[in-house]
Amino acid sequence: MALRADDGTTGGWLDAAVAAPSVHNTQPWRFSVHDGGIDVRADPARRLRVIDRDHRSMLLSVGAAVFNLRLAIALDGRLPVLRPFPADGVTVARIEPGRPGRPGPGLRALGGAVFRRHTNRGPYARAVVPARVLDELRAAAAAEGAELTALDRVRRDALLALMITADAAQRGDPAYRRELATWTAADPTRRDGIPPALFGPRDAAGRLPLRDFDPGPAAPGRPAVAFEPHPQLVVLSSRSDARAARVRAGQAMQRVLLTATVRGLAVQPMTQVLELPRLRRVVADPADPWFPQMILRIGYALPAPPSPRRAWSEVLTTH
Ligand SMILES: Cc1cc2nc3c(=O)[nH]c(=O)nc-3n(C[C@H](O)[C@H](O)[C@H](O)COP(=O)(O)O)c2cc1C
Repeated sequence: MALRADDGTTGGWLDAAVAAPSVHNTQPWRFSVHDGGIDVRADPARRLRVIDRDHRSMLLSVGAAVFNLRLAIALDGRLPVLRPFPADGVTVARIEPGRPGRPGPGLRALGGAVFRRHTNRGPYARAVVPARVLDELRAAAAAEGAELTALDRVRRDALLALMITADAAQRGDPAYRRELATWTAADPTRRDGIPPALFGPRDAAGRLPLRDFDPGPAAPGRPAVAFEPHPQLVVLSSRSDARAARVRAGQAMQRVLLTATVRGLAVQPMTQVLELPRLRRVVADPADPWFPQMILRIGYALPAPPSPRRAWSEVLTTH
């Protein structure tokens, strides 16, 4: 199938790709359109040097964009063919629209969630997420080769304690604060990063180790509210921690996030503890050969606002 960057169909697919979540909204992706498919590359210039030394968060983010691209192609009636790492070694994946195929209702529902999914940093209701919804999230992860574990109270509290340690270590590091400041500037012309309006409220009780995106002292006027006392956490893990496995984990993460959106769940990644290698090792179960890739707080909440995006035409490489 001959593809062109300037035809509406390809633009629509790329529009979906750039709606993906990314660490600090860095949008670390580039695309190029060829005759037979779309190459997705990571953009190393947008990697977070301090919290993402091993490129893991960048590859997860790119993986999420890959999933959205696959989904958009499928919704246009072509079975997407994913070719991870073609020969040049820079490209994360080439995605080709394959033979015609009609998407089922499950995929159509996920497609309807692509532009409705937003990270929700507000307080969640005390309501418990039903077991059947957790099963659906687990199935979404498994469909992409990953494992999703809903934490019981004991494991949740142990993880929260580690997160508090991680959060304090990061905030005590001037390099971390400088990096955060670069991606959280109050600049309405910027189409990336996290603007102050999206930092979310502070936890009045000061118990939940949510990432505080405010690089300085508390922003004046930023409210402190009561968060849920017993957050529900799920951990997404992969069988391997290799580069390709991280891209795959990103696709699994995105499938879980879209499934959660379809089911009316609010979601916030909480990843500080995974960004410090010595703490990430503690999160991994030594008896179990899975690598933790993502931690999500899930629940029910008021809708969250969208975050800015660069247009797909800005992340298109033409050559
Ligand atoms: C690998 C990764 C790590 C993230 N870590 C956090 C986090 O610790 N806290 C948080 O509030 N959001 C986190 N996020 C969410 C991003 O900040 C968010 O996706 C981005 O700002 C774009 O906003 P959106 O998800 O609403 O589209 C993370 C996202 C990814 C992909």
